[in-house]
Amino acid sequence: MDFKIAVIKGDGVGPEIVDEGLKVLDKIAQKYNHKFECTNVLGGGAAIDVTGEPLPKESLDICKASDAVLLGAVGGPKWDNIESSKRPEKGLLALRSGLGLFVNLRPATMHESIKEASPLRADIVEKGVDFVVVRELTGGIYFGERKTGVENGVEFAYDVEKYDENEIRRIGKKAFETAMIRNKKLTCVDKANVLDSSKLWRKVLNELAKDYPEVELSYMYVDNAAMQLVKDPSQFDVIVTNNIFGDIISDEASMITGSIGMLPSASVRGDDFGMYEPIHGSAPDIAGKNIANPTAIIQSSVMMLRYLGEQEAAAKIENALVKVFEKGENLTGDLGGNATTDEFTNEILKYI
Ligand code: IPM
Ligand code: MG
Repeated sequence: MDFKIAVIKGDGVGPEIVDEGLKVLDKIAQKYNHKFECTNVLGGGAAIDVTGEPLPKESLDICKASDAVLLGAVGGPKWDNIESSKRPEKGLLALRSGLGLFVNLRPATMHESIKEASPLRADIVEKGVDFVVVRELTGGIYFGERKTGVENGVEFAYDVEKYDENEIRRIGKKAFETAMIRNKKLTCVDKANVLDSSKLWRKVLNELAKDYPEVELSYMYVDNAAMQLVKDPSQFDVIVTNNIFGDIISDEASMITGSIGMLPSASVRGDDFGMYEPIHGSAPDIAGKNIANPTAIIQSSVMMLRYLGEQEAAAKIENALVKVFEKGENLTGDLGGNATTDEFTNEILKYI
């Protein structure tokens, strides 16, 4: 099969981890006779440096015409003082919304053999970590009305968290469907004791629940969820939540599994098109040192292959990762090893 992939390497560790992901895809292409036609596309800080815009129109057009988008990470201190509408992160948000990718699936799974890397106590992780965060990705406070100004000589700024029932219904449906193919337990994480928007989420999810009688739906305030995630992550199966809470708790989830370098994500919209990216950021502190853990981008390619219908190839990479973790050699520093980024990837390539 031939696949057109738009590749946005981005900033910081982005380029070096994406290169590792592409090595893995190359090996898969050879083995399964696929062709990944990769087109490098500018996005984030790298795009600002060349064009002045974090997401040039041409980049969005190439992504739209592709079968999938693979993205490293965007942002970094170099662009910190740019006005907020032109920052690298705005490019990523524009990409998500321009492609209509309203669902962000962030699976948090712990590999048995590297559980010592988790900062949680052994008796807590012993029970297993295997849940998925279904994050709403194109609405809420990251896209709401915002303003910075001065009123009566006093500076102010605000950002609006607004959702309509249709936005909640479509992400809610995805979350129930995700629960149906997992353990049928769905937790909506919100702040309904304070926020009106959370109350609307509950109303819409309660209505949807009637269509999914097998799914056990519960609600949890986000502050409690942050605590429960470290107290007993095994209680979660599927978490559905808004854009900002999903951003926050998915970083927490990744650390529970051992390292922020582990978790992939798929941003999708209901057809088989998607954008695949690690949940971690551009990690400027370790960029260019060849020490970043490329697991998240490799796992993101696994998610991509699954959406492209290539289950066997996806499973091949996943099994290779498991073998490398089990062997415990050539792991990167975040997992307690001292391998470089490419040494780790080479180890994976051996098993593909
Ligand atoms: C993420 C990142 C992004 C987000 C940033 C870079 C805009 O933190 O994908 O989690 O907040 O969504
Ligand atoms: Mg984030």
